[in-house]
Amino acid sequence: MVVAFPEAGRVLDGVSLQVHAGETVALVGASGCGKTTLARCLLGLQPVHSGQIHIGGINLARANHRDMKRVRRCMQAVFQDPGASLNERMRVGEIVGEPLRVLRGVSGSGLRTAVAGFLEAVGLDAADADSFPHRFSGGQKQRIAIARALSVEPDVLVCDEPTSALDVSVQARVLNLLSDLQQDRGMAMLMVTHDLAVAACTCDRIAVLQDGQVVEDRPTRALLDAPMHAASTALVNASS
Ligand SMILES: Nc1ncnc2c1ncn2[C@@H]1O[C@H](COP(=O)(O)OP(=O)(O)O)[C@@H](O)[C@H]1O
Ligand SMILES: [Mg+2]
Repeated sequence: MVVAFPEAGRVLDGVSLQVHAGETVALVGASGCGKTTLARCLLGLQPVHSGQIHIGGINLARANHRDMKRVRRCMQAVFQDPGASLNERMRVGEIVGEPLRVLRGVSGSGLRTAVAGFLEAVGLDAADADSFPHRFSGGQKQRIAIARALSVEPDVLVCDEPTSALDVSVQARVLNLLSDLQQDRGMAMLMVTHDLAVAACTCDRIAVLQDGQVVEDRPTRALLDAPMHAASTALVNASS
């Protein structure tokens, strides 16, 4: 797969990555190496110049409106900045319920009950549905974003630096929450991070991105114990 920007050139250049059902894969690499760009391609938010993306049997390049709706239902995302990704004018209940309403047609008391369940699943209160996002801390906002992503029971959850914007004291709790939810629900998770420690505590496999390509892609323990590529070694050394 190739993605280029006029100013930055070929950011992704022959990158190849597979995430199987139920798998947890970390995409790691130095800042600016193209991790977010790759995540945005998967989510259909970034056009791809050449190459293919297949999600649950759908080729993203040829996807029509109906296919895109299916993709959105089976793949959800949690981004770095929970403040920016939540609409401040909507109540938490509306935010969490929106994908269910739009993508699954759930409404009324069924929607309210479902939202309450998802808020509780992420460690919030059902009553929080009535509040606006500004009342919540960064960690709580990220829990709201996670509840929203989970609401349509996605097969794949793409997390792009989900804890980088949070206080260190709450980072581990949010990562544990993501890991627990991933295991409970059996969904696949792509964890995009510059931080090998985040990859190590959430993922079975690590893919290292450098110069637009995946240069090493191995089980977490094996890669951490004996990195084979210079880019992986640099990340391991930086995090120990
Ligand atoms: N929309 C865009 N327009 C132009 N350049 C971009 C755009 N998005 C990302 N880039 C450039 O692509 C490179 C990779 O960015 P990004 O995918 O955000 O990296 P990472 O997430 O690994 O830090 C950077 O050089 C960045 O400046
Ligand atoms: Mg990024």
